[in-house]
Amino acid sequence: MSIYGDYIKSVIRTVPDWPQPGVNFRDITPLLQNSAAFRKLIDSFVHRYQELDLDAIAAIDARGFIVGAPLAYELGCSFVPVRKKGKLPFRTISETYTLEYGEAEVELHSDAFKPGDRILIVDDLIATGGTMLAAAKLISRSGGQVVETATIVDLPDLGGSARIHEAGYNVFAVCS
Ligand code: PRP
Ligand code: HPA
Repeated sequence: MSIYGDYIKSVIRTVPDWPQPGVNFRDITPLLQNSAAFRKLIDSFVHRYQELDLDAIAAIDARGFIVGAPLAYELGCSFVPVRKKGKLPFRTISETYTLEYGEAEVELHSDAFKPGDRILIVDDLIATGGTMLAAAKLISRSGGQVVETATIVDLPDLGGSARIHEAGYNVFAVCS
């Protein structure tokens, strides 16, 4: 949990039964609409990572981009998109994963960073952990050093963060 964790949690909305019955969807749009909250969110990540000498922020399509871009700007490191299948134009490597609802594949450009680069992976939310773990495996396969995986929201009851941790990657969540 981060310094602003309780506050950030208070501005995230839960939408019941979306996108299907039984799913409580954690909606970050109220947080994004609130400029003070959005600033505190980015500051939480900056505070944690400013001394860690990162080379790149790898952000997950699509909502990971929202935090990844301002964080890369603020920390003065590069921005690497980890995208859904079929969106990247150059040579890619890919990893398949299972979602809370469905199956998918993430891709990374093969020249996204240099071997040994220190990479932080960011996304908005960890549910089953499938997306974040696929991204971490992709970065590792490409020769990047995954310093940590970071999210705005962790849903610990779904076991994703534990799974990522068991696979050998640190997990930081602003709130859970
Ligand atoms: C959501 C969320 C994470 C992922 C979390 O993205 O933004 O990326 O699912 O689920 P998991 O931990 O079970 O893998 P989604 O695939 O819905 O894509 P979007 O950001 O394009 O809406
Ligand atoms: N909120 C946002 N994205 C998600 C969720 C959720 O509750 N579950 C899986 N992806």
